Amino acid sequence: MIGSAPAALNARHVEALLEFLQAAGVDAFIDADPVDRFAQSELEARRPQSAPSPQPMPGTAPARGQGLAPPPLNLPSLSQPRQASVAPQSAPPSSPLAAMSGAVIPGEDAVRSAREAARTAATLEELRACLAAFQGCNLHLTAKSLVFADGNPAARIMLVGEAPGSEEDATGLPFVGRSGKLLDRMLAAIKLDRSSVYIANVVPWRPPGNRTPTPQETEICRPFIARQIELVDPDVLVFLGAASAKALTGATDGIRKMRGRWMDYDTGRRKIRAIATYHPAYLLRSPLEKRLAWRDFLALRKVLAD
Ligand code: URA
Repeated sequence: MIGSAPAALNARHVEALLEFLQAAGVDAFIDADPVDRFAQSELEARRPQSAPSPQPMPGTAPARGQGLAPPPLNLPSLSQPRQASVAPQSAPPSSPLAAMSGAVIPGEDAVRSAREAARTAATLEELRACLAAFQGCNLHLTAKSLVFADGNPAARIMLVGEAPGSEEDATGLPFVGRSGKLLDRMLAAIKLDRSSVYIANVVPWRPPGNRTPTPQETEICRPFIARQIELVDPDVLVFLGAASAKALTGATDGIRKMRGRWMDYDTGRRKIRAIATYHPAYLLRSPLEKRLAWRDFLALRKVLAD
């Protein structure tokens, strides 16, 4: 029980509890100090009826347990101008609560400013700098790192995953956790490694608690990965999992139907041969499917040898 911690709670317990909460998707605490909600409800119940609680202003969120609500998160209201600009990033906020105060409303403005920012990047380094300064996607508020890419930008093959997980967030490199280790073994099986491939993700920031990126987050990040593909200009693109294939090709089929089929990815300037395969994280959960992924990797090897 979270509210009444056992007396013998040690640092390891606290760490385990935090890991659990993080994995469950908790990414912000409501308040810096613990609050005894039971005592507060009793006080509230004893409050004379003649002393009404303050009424919320029109347009503000309905108060849960009025008078007890935590300080407002200071999110921009719908009437405030939306912040979706590429501005130099300030020092990281000192707490998750402070971090949330920079949140923007994910919408068309953010997508438009992402498109404009991505278009101006003439090199991968410029694109990385653009992303580092981009404030139109709220995921940057909770992520530790921008996970831009790993591998060789001059490689003939580019692999694109969905979004970083916790190990990637900690290191700033894509596919370094368990699924990344499997990916490395799959690449080694066709005589490739990180010096002969380039790896990136559709979404370059870890979604809190490893949740799936929302459609808006994906849409906002899409111009950047599209520009990254254009700048790397590989001979072959590999979509790791349905999310990446769908985000980049607009396909609606499931991965079972899509995988192993060659398609064209159109950058607007040229068409790149592309193939979708199972995401390594899925293969860790469904090892029997590795035989199909193996077929995809053999097809990839064949295309590279042609
Ligand atoms: N899964 C992804 O899609 N990307 C990573 O970088 C790690 C795990």
